[in-house]
Amino acid sequence: MGACAVLLAALLLALAAQYIAVGNEPFLTSYQGQFQSYVIPATTNIQQSLVKANLASYVKLVVPCNADAYQSASVPSQGVFRTELTQIMTQLAAFLSSSGAPFVVNIYPFLSLYQSSDFPQDYAFFEGSTHPVVDGPNTYYNAFDGNFDTLVAALGKIGYGQLPIAIGEVGWPTEGAPSANLTAARAFNQGLMNRVMNNKGTPLRPGVPPADVYLFSLFDEEQKSILPGNFERHWGIFSFDGQAKYPLNLGLGNAVLKNAKEVPYLPSRWCIANPVQNLDNVANHIKLACSMADCTRLDYGGSCYGIGEKANVSYAFNSYYQQQKQDAKSCDFDGLGMITYLDPSMGECRFLVGIDDSKSSAVASCGCGCGVCCGVWVLFFSVFMYLRMMGSV
Ligand SMILES: *[C@@H]1O[C@H](CO)[C@@H](O)[C@H](O)[C@H]1NC(C)=O
Ligand SMILES: *[C@@H]1O[C@H](CO)[C@@H](O)[C@H](O)[C@H]1NC(C)=O
Repeated sequence: MGACAVLLAALLLALAAQYIAVGNEPFLTSYQGQFQSYVIPATTNIQQSLVKANLASYVKLVVPCNADAYQSASVPSQGVFRTELTQIMTQLAAFLSSSGAPFVVNIYPFLSLYQSSDFPQDYAFFEGSTHPVVDGPNTYYNAFDGNFDTLVAALGKIGYGQLPIAIGEVGWPTEGAPSANLTAARAFNQGLMNRVMNNKGTPLRPGVPPADVYLFSLFDEEQKSILPGNFERHWGIFSFDGQAKYPLNLGLGNAVLKNAKEVPYLPSRWCIANPVQNLDNVANHIKLACSMADCTRLDYGGSCYGIGEKANVSYAFNSYYQQQKQDAKSCDFDGLGMITYLDPSMGECRFLVGIDDSKSSAVASCGCGCGVCCGVWVLFFSVFMYLRMMGSV
């Protein structure tokens, strides 16, 4: 554990970590308050540990909140925290203010659009809106600014109207719902970048852009819970294998995202439904395959939706086969599966080839036997990959 702490400290410094998040969205309405009472005590404990380790001036504690922590009956200037959170938010804001940390909020115009059929589509983006929100002397043309200023107003009402705000998560998924697609994701993320980098701020914070903005996310995550929706596995600006999904200028001159090089793919082979077999009894096989591997692209709003029944089966078989590292047994399916060397991809629907991650699993066994170390390794590796792809390492 001692070695682990040293390693952790070294990695934090190596990464120049700015923030440690105490929980993530602990006040989410759907948690019904179950974590509420732990947040301030936990923050205080961890702060004491940082002080003890002489790290308090390098690393700030934050508590990322979902935008459902606040609301407004009408316009942004009427923003208030949820009544049951007023006291805790006042304590949190006092802590953040004294330690010099920002209030961290996750803002998702995509979810507003996804969850409400009468949400004006153009208000989710940054190209102007035919449904602007007029708030006294101020007019809002996009959901991001409106949401941000609702928070500014809520903070003002508890006496912390000047507290810096950082965006902990913001982004747009590329699959899993009709409005989750490459065009929309690119338009939103590029619009966001341009919006933030023009340093104009918002009507309630003119000239003051967010303290930091973290795009969500770097890669797709094929094992993530799809409880919120199929899109949950497709937030990446890079696909699972490090390929940029669309050009995106992050404000570093003319640099755009770069694809990962020398990706250790498994051999070019796929598992498909055997064309000479009757597929009447395939349902349970598909169920198993899709419970283990990702089949979200097959559903409405996915890039493989509508490829047909047999191709559906092939897609499910292949996803499982790749996830099982192309183990021949995993393409059996009681004789219904068959290995092929011809890429079965069709149109937008890409039949994936997996990655040989035997090398990175060696990295994960980092010797100290604690989940934190391995988590940090993965984080370190991701950041490193990211920097490589951005061409700066
Ligand atoms: C992509 O999403 C946008 C935003 O919701 C929508 O207007 C557009 O029709 C979608 N494109 C496709 C091809 O579905
Ligand atoms: C393919 O699979 C998806 C997801 O399970 C389903 O919605 C769709 O109806 C299937 N299509 C056919 C033709 O079976």
